[in-house]
Amino acid sequence: MGASEKSGIAAIVLAAGKGTRMKSDLPKVLHKIAHRPMILHLMDSLAPLEPEQIVTVMGPDMDSVAQAVHPYPTCIQYERLGTGHAVQTAQKELGTFDGDVLILYGDTPFISTATQQAMIAERRQGASIVVLGFTPETPGAYGRLQLDSDGYVEAIIEAADATPEQLALSLCNSGVMCVEAMLLFDLLSQVTNNNAKGEYYLTDIVALARKAGNKTAVVSASETELMGVNSRQELAKAEAVMQDKLRQRAMDHGASMVDPNSVFLSWDTQIGRDVVIGPNVVFGPEVTIGDHVDIRAFCHFEGSVVADGAVVGPYARLRPGANIGPHAHIGNFVEIKKSEIEAGAKVNHLSYIGDAQIGAASNIGAGTITCNYDGFRKHRTEIGSGAFIGSNSALVAPVQIGSRAIIGAGSVVTQDVADGALAVARGAQTELPGWAERFRSSKNTK
Ligand code: UD1
Ligand code: MG
Repeated sequence: MGASEKSGIAAIVLAAGKGTRMKSDLPKVLHKIAHRPMILHLMDSLAPLEPEQIVTVMGPDMDSVAQAVHPYPTCIQYERLGTGHAVQTAQKELGTFDGDVLILYGDTPFISTATQQAMIAERRQGASIVVLGFTPETPGAYGRLQLDSDGYVEAIIEAADATPEQLALSLCNSGVMCVEAMLLFDLLSQVTNNNAKGEYYLTDIVALARKAGNKTAVVSASETELMGVNSRQELAKAEAVMQDKLRQRAMDHGASMVDPNSVFLSWDTQIGRDVVIGPNVVFGPEVTIGDHVDIRAFCHFEGSVVADGAVVGPYARLRPGANIGPHAHIGNFVEIKKSEIEAGAKVNHLSYIGDAQIGAASNIGAGTITCNYDGFRKHRTEIGSGAFIGSNSALVAPVQIGSRAIIGAGSVVTQDVADGALAVARGAQTELPGWAERFRSSKNTK
């Protein structure tokens, strides 16, 4: 589509439900799947269609939803009078839009771009309303799609209003529809709440459209694609589905996983080619891994960048701002926060590196700690290239250690160290010849 061409598509996202069954202070659509609010997953799948407008219908006191979908607008449905009423609430916001309207549910986040495109295509081939149907294992409370002899949908019957024969229909209403804008609001103004639930049903527009001589059609999708989230259990199921997709994507892009089911990714995790990921690795948000990186078992990442050829873990924790250079090594029980570890540097065992710069090819000995916090403020540690920090050193920040300097093991470094110097900051070793034996005999021991 050219920049000046309009898609002729608008979307209305229904999100006014409180999500009572979530037992949460957070509106349901903001619960996260792979670290992203579920409503934004839905918007990600919409984006390739380049909608001219996306209007979210939310309940009162849901400013957090408005913030999450910003800059897209929201409108408030003050009383929850049904799906038809919810869609009507968005009419004002859509203004004079006269293209095709996709109606989506904020708590049904996995609908694919391809399915939405198929619905638009079907709409543009002459059906005024396209309903997205599916055949769930348990039709339960879903609305049933009643088809005519030609296979066109003639009505949607809500389960609460259905006869036993209608309940036996297996094709169900996902709730998602694509409707010509002008017709949509015209039909909605005719919908009444004269039904089992006393609600204004969006679904009633199908029978009304047929009565007025309009064509209708059904597009189908899988139950997984249309899975909704109403409870914590369903949220966990949705998370599992998303994790599986993300693992597949990472493997498609050239990462190997020894045990995919134990690797957890974030929606935005970027992983390069020829990366090997061991078992039990967790990626939080904003992590980028380069090519040829070896990630060993039990690592935890958040807000970090790992460059090509680095080796991380097992049991490493990279916190926000950890920036690991090419071919650097981060070993077991090492925690790194807001620090630059330059090319080829090694922090291999039992260290905390925070607010630091570690120069290229430096070696940080086992147990080294950057003492970055004085109880009030954070301070930086800067280490040049090719330096050697002896094991069990405490680097009391702010402090600078020059290139190629050597720090004796067990030092508590409180002053800057020049390039190429040796600094030892610990009690000097003394030796008293024969003292131990004299001590023993004074105690009458052998
Ligand atoms: C609806 C459909 C049903 C379909 C099912 C699929 C109607 C009348 N029925 O039923 O055919 O099988 O979804 O899940 O449309 N919402 C609002 N405002 C309202 C009412 C609902 O924003 O006043 C939102 C909810 O937050 C939710 C969605 O619309 O995201 C569906 O509402 P819900 O009450 O779950 O509808 P169902 O009775 O499940
Ligand atoms: Mg429902």
